[in-house]
Amino acid sequence: MIVKTMSELIGNTPLLQIDFQGGAVKLFIKLEMFNPCGSMKDRMALSMINAAEHQADVFQGLNIVESSSGNTATALSMLSSERGHKFSAVMDGHAASEKMDAVRAYGGDVILVGSEEGKLLTADREELAHKLAEDDEYTYCMAQHDNPANPEGYRNLAEELISELGPDITCLISAIGTGGSLCGTARALRERIPDLQIIGVEPEGSIIFGGPAHNYLQSGTGTPDGASVGLVVDYDVVDDGRKVSDANAFAACRVLARLYGLMVGGSAGGSIYEAICYCISAPKGARVVTFACDAGTKYMDTIFNDAWLHKHVTDIDNHICRFEKILLENSNYQAQQNTARIARSQANRLAQLSAIATT
Ligand SMILES: Cc1ncc(COP(=O)(O)O)c(C=O)c1O
Repeated sequence: MIVKTMSELIGNTPLLQIDFQGGAVKLFIKLEMFNPCGSMKDRMALSMINAAEHQADVFQGLNIVESSSGNTATALSMLSSERGHKFSAVMDGHAASEKMDAVRAYGGDVILVGSEEGKLLTADREELAHKLAEDDEYTYCMAQHDNPANPEGYRNLAEELISELGPDITCLISAIGTGGSLCGTARALRERIPDLQIIGVEPEGSIIFGGPAHNYLQSGTGTPDGASVGLVVDYDVVDDGRKVSDANAFAACRVLARLYGLMVGGSAGGSIYEAICYCISAPKGARVVTFACDAGTKYMDTIFNDAWLHKHVTDIDNHICRFEKILLENSNYQAQQNTARIARSQANRLAQLSAIATT
């Protein structure tokens, strides 16, 4: 494939299939880290930039500002460099340092709210982004939480799913932050599959599906206390909301990397954890879709760093063992690895995990 712009590479990401209940239930993980900036947010950034260019005098170029946990900022920064716009990201110290470095590498500015090592400050950074746009008539704030071009950016994702899987999808279960990816894909899919079940997954401590509110470490997803849930979250389209702890989300990240070679970030860890729990007891014939929102390589200093993980998540080793056992017992892992040696090592690992669980 030959392209003339990087943005032509956005979308058409592959699916990883994992079978449950002896193949009667199938989970399809849309590998969104294969987008050029490594996350699903490339899709909505492209859609929001196209919409903004449509409204503005593009011959002057745009001054774009946006509050972001990192992936939207990275994608907007890349697209701004491609289109000749100026981009400033308002970020906080909760964002992975790799994401701030990526924004700068693409030529964007990072305006840091709070300290580099600091907390999630969603409300503060959103307020600042809006203020910067209000103070300067040439600056355009993308306002991803309320911007209809955000969910609209996922229409292609829904079309890709239909073309790969047909209309035979029973459930979409995935992370919810602004709501763009889940609600945008869900609305487009429901045009073809009216009885599709939609489940949103947010971190424990996030307030989209109610309290109690507290801090959480999964990046990019949920809405923390003090920030408001935007217009893009469409409660009418979501059938059910689930909450996932940091411990279970991060345990899933670690186990998926070791068993399937699939290295994802924390929000995808949480989504895939909930999707797997769903698949284990789903009715036979269920075909479930979830999104790997971004790659684990963006979190080498946190989720994939042993010292960080042990410091920040109580009892993480037990969560990892528990989830590894669940996957080994319920998924097609064994069927995929059909040599006697690997089957033996799986049996040994299960025996070890049972011993750990009973001590
Ligand atoms: C890593 C990650 N996961 C999940 C989300 C939530 O996606 P959405 O805003 O489409 O609900 C985001 C959004 O920034 C993200 O960056």
